[in-house]
Amino acid sequence: MNNNDIISKTITFVKEQLNNAEGGHDWFHIERVYKNALLIAKNESCNLQIVQLSALLHDIADSKFHNGDESVGPKVAREFLESQNLTEEVIVHVINIIENISFKGGNFEKKFSSIELDIVQDADRLDAIGAIGIARAFNYGGFKNRALYDPKIAPNTNMSTEEYKRSQAPTINHFYEKLLLLKNKMNTETGKNIAKERHRFMEVYLAQFYAEWEGEK
Ligand code: ADP
Ligand code: NI
Repeated sequence: MNNNDIISKTITFVKEQLNNAEGGHDWFHIERVYKNALLIAKNESCNLQIVQLSALLHDIADSKFHNGDESVGPKVAREFLESQNLTEEVIVHVINIIENISFKGGNFEKKFSSIELDIVQDADRLDAIGAIGIARAFNYGGFKNRALYDPKIAPNTNMSTEEYKRSQAPTINHFYEKLLLLKNKMNTETGKNIAKERHRFMEVYLAQFYAEWEGEK
């Protein structure tokens, strides 16, 4: 089977698997990450098949929806890849990317590195920032019934960590906890350049948000 056939079969498989996925991790998220990854890959010397497969399979079974079980995604991906008669070398690489792609804040140590992981990780991070990133954040916040913003639980609040954790932080806080940090975590030059634009857009958005909150605009 040539690579185009493998990729179209992977697309069909992922669409089926994500049939009932929530808005932030549906097929369209995968499609955007896939496009971002192809764009970044153009400027890097890399194995394109690994980039394509990893981008398509990176959220195949998000641990948030399997009681935190991080082994489900890699297992589902491996079974699929084995059914496509790919070499063990390719399969191991794709699985390594899936296991290492996620932003997990402090307590996560990166155990694997490759240019293909760098590319797909940048592609996934780009989809968490800019206009799409803002939409995804508020979509997630709505799903969790979070407030949009609350000046009492502002990001620069001086409440204790415990109080903060209990408070169901509003969605605006997520910008300061994650979205605005991503620009400086990009791996590739292409990723950095795109992230810069999307970051600027979020800053403009936040300034407008606060102005409207105060009835100033
Ligand atoms: P990834 O796609 O890297 O796996 P996550 O699963 O952590 O990212 O999050 C999916 C989407 O939901 C992202 O766009 C992320 O910014 C958003 N999100 C995650 N946690 C929160 C939160 N506490 N508040 C608002 N949005 C969130
Ligand atoms: Ni993702």
